Amino acid sequence: MKDDRKTQTVLITGATDGLGKAAAVLLAEHRYRVFAAGRSAEKREQLDALAKQKNLPLKTLEMDVCDDASVQKAVSAIYQEAGQIDVLINNAGLVYVGAVEDLRLEDWRRQFETNFFGVIRVTQAVLPKMRERRAGRILMMSSVSGFVTPPLHARSAAEQNRFGQPKTVLHVVVYKFRDNVSNYDRERAINGIKDMAGKIPGIKNVWIKTARNQIKDFSGVYAIEFTSAEAAADYSESPVHEAWSKTWQEQRENSLSFQVTNP
Ligand SMILES: NC(=O)c1ccc[n+]([C@@H]2O[C@H](COP(=O)([O-])OP(=O)(O)OC[C@H]3O[C@@H](n4cnc5c(N)ncnc54)[C@H](OP(=O)(O)O)[C@@H]3O)[C@@H](O)[C@H]2O)c1
Repeated sequence: MKDDRKTQTVLITGATDGLGKAAAVLLAEHRYRVFAAGRSAEKREQLDALAKQKNLPLKTLEMDVCDDASVQKAVSAIYQEAGQIDVLINNAGLVYVGAVEDLRLEDWRRQFETNFFGVIRVTQAVLPKMRERRAGRILMMSSVSGFVTPPLHARSAAEQNRFGQPKTVLHVVVYKFRDNVSNYDRERAINGIKDMAGKIPGIKNVWIKTARNQIKDFSGVYAIEFTSAEAAADYSESPVHEAWSKTWQEQRENSLSFQVTNP
């Protein structure tokens, strides 16, 4: 680690628990000057005690990323004490997992208010001085669910996608092979996805994951990343796809497909 990094000031949101706390402690152990922000007074007290015990340059701050006044107050306090913020880590976040129809609108709003607008709010508070100094870094904590959406994570994917992969169109298929499909045919069907992808324009990436549940019971997921919404729309019309689909239909018992697009 370079010496000039040692006195840098880092603000981490959601640093009283989980990944944010781990990052805060690690950076402080490397002698960064860390401001660890969160809402819970109890968790902050515990982290302050840990910092004192380990003699770490880490101080906690009260900050609710959903509250303008709270963010302004915390950021001003850092400027007063440290003069500048060199690194902002937008980590505060929460995850509600559930089927779309089971989650209440207020859950969706809370998630977006924290994970999306919270990031904008804190960034807006910190960015002007970084611009003035023409120096600074802002890191966004995202999630793999912004790339591939597991079942019951639609809400998380919707919000994470805004930071994860701009202009990404993902076509995700979760499938199960028929019981009587031979290993040879299964391989043929799986490899066919990649062969097909190589022949259709506008496909950027293909990910395939299969799992063997029992001897002949294979299931899995594949995701195709397109360069544009138009390419995704053309995909199913392509004759190459049509030819491969016949094999695929014969091998699979069932499948569920959905498309994830971000603006
Ligand atoms: N863990 C994973 O597997 C995983 C996977 C993908 C992405 N992520 C992302 O990684 C980040 C951290 O996840 P984690 O699992 O470490 O979370 P966690 O253990 O639940 O900790 C969340 C932190 O965010 C803070 N927080 C929540 N709402 C807040 C608000 N309104 N204002 C300020 N702070 C708030 C909490 O502190 P207080 O309670 O003190 O406010 C806590 O310190 C999140 O953005 C999450 O989406 C995590």
